[in-house]
Amino acid sequence: MPIDTRQIQAIVFDAYGTLLDVSSIDAYLINTFGEDKATEIAKHWRQKQLEYTWLRSLMHQYVDFYTLTEHALLYALKATDTAAETSIIRDTMSQYYHLKVYDDVSPTLARLSEKYKLAILSNANPSLLEKATAYNNIDPYLSEILSADILGQYKPAPSVYQLAEKAFQLESKEILFISSNTWDIAGASAYGLQTCWLKNRQNGLLEELGQQVNLEINTLNELTLVLG
Ligand code: 2OP
Repeated sequence: MPIDTRQIQAIVFDAYGTLLDVSSIDAYLINTFGEDKATEIAKHWRQKQLEYTWLRSLMHQYVDFYTLTEHALLYALKATDTAAETSIIRDTMSQYYHLKVYDDVSPTLARLSEKYKLAILSNANPSLLEKATAYNNIDPYLSEILSADILGQYKPAPSVYQLAEKAFQLESKEILFISSNTWDIAGASAYGLQTCWLKNRQNGLLEELGQQVNLEINTLNELTLVLG
């Protein structure tokens, strides 16, 4: 079903890989671990971070996103046979507070915030999200920073997407959820939000999970054309 723009009153964004560029940490990884290992560490780190959110939700063994990301880093170091002192691990983790937004983020949020309420809905701890949005000066555009942490469960659990409905007191179809992560689009669609898949960040394929994608865009700027 195509997007129904007349209904939309709020726009909700995923954080990592959608607004925040996780590859902005790559230069630090190269400097710290060397070029050969950095690519492998980054690959394992991101993959395990995702898997651990799903596994911990299923196991009912919640730990916050920062801790979980550190566990994923420990796995990545082990998988690449990389020895690292505690101070290096701490320093690597702290890079997560300074991830940069993609170039198209600030102008798009500025424009959309003139007409819509905007929010982030993320698995990350509130403190991580608050620091990252302030670091990139996008916090003035956001009415809400919504974190799965309050529920002790990660996306794609339906209760996490429901946070957006509750925060804005809107019906699910009045909210447009934007993500580059195809599993996140599937989760938001299963909950009933209108969905927009931002394709160009990872150039992946849509999942075979029965999701409805109401809009596909290549760059975030395209949203302003569709939504004014
Ligand atoms: C999020 O921000 C991890 O991208 C995911 O919730």
